[in-house]
Amino acid sequence: MKIVFATNNPNKLKEVQALVPSHIQLLSLTNIGCTEDIPETSPTIEGNAIQKAQYIKENYGYDCFADDTGLEVDILNGDPGVYSARYAGESKDSDANMDKLLNNLKEKDNRKAQFKTVVALHINGTLETFTGICLGTITKQKRGDKGFGYDPIFMPNEYRKTFAELPLEEKNSISHRAKAVKQLVVFLNN
Ligand code: IMP
Repeated sequence: MKIVFATNNPNKLKEVQALVPSHIQLLSLTNIGCTEDIPETSPTIEGNAIQKAQYIKENYGYDCFADDTGLEVDILNGDPGVYSARYAGESKDSDANMDKLLNNLKEKDNRKAQFKTVVALHINGTLETFTGICLGTITKQKRGDKGFGYDPIFMPNEYRKTFAELPLEEKNSISHRAKAVKQLVVFLNN
């Protein structure tokens, strides 16, 4: 079975490829010739995931799934949330995003946060969504060089390491994206 995963983020592709069984072959946006930026204009994470999946179905005709993720920080009332990618500006620079967040949490004791991923699946004319949440805290400094995005400053609960210090298999055993993708796989297998 072939299905489009609406991303060109190599890290997301690697994570998700490792979670789906080998009979499900993932096609990336590059694989289907989609090089433009897909609009993400919804005020919610779920809305953006749905928007991306629908865009691919409508413009390229493929069954597909898309994910959208946000980092929600308790003391910032859920920010950066749906604006996580552009938190420090349109350049979507991960280092600048993390610096801004660390600065906004300076001197704050409550550093609780959660990653939330919504996967939207467009298949056989129907739409399904799957949500995964991973609870943790924001560290005071960046640590580790694995992963991507905010991984160097997110420490999942029960761990003493940030996502960027964990091997991919370990991040994939507990992460927000893994929790959503596991539900997707169950659905596809049925
Ligand atoms: P999007 O889902 O690609 O729109 O991601 C929104 C923002 O969250 C971007 O800044 C990503 O780099 C970041 N992000 C998405 N998934 C993860 C993750 O698993 N770990 C750390 N940062 C992530």
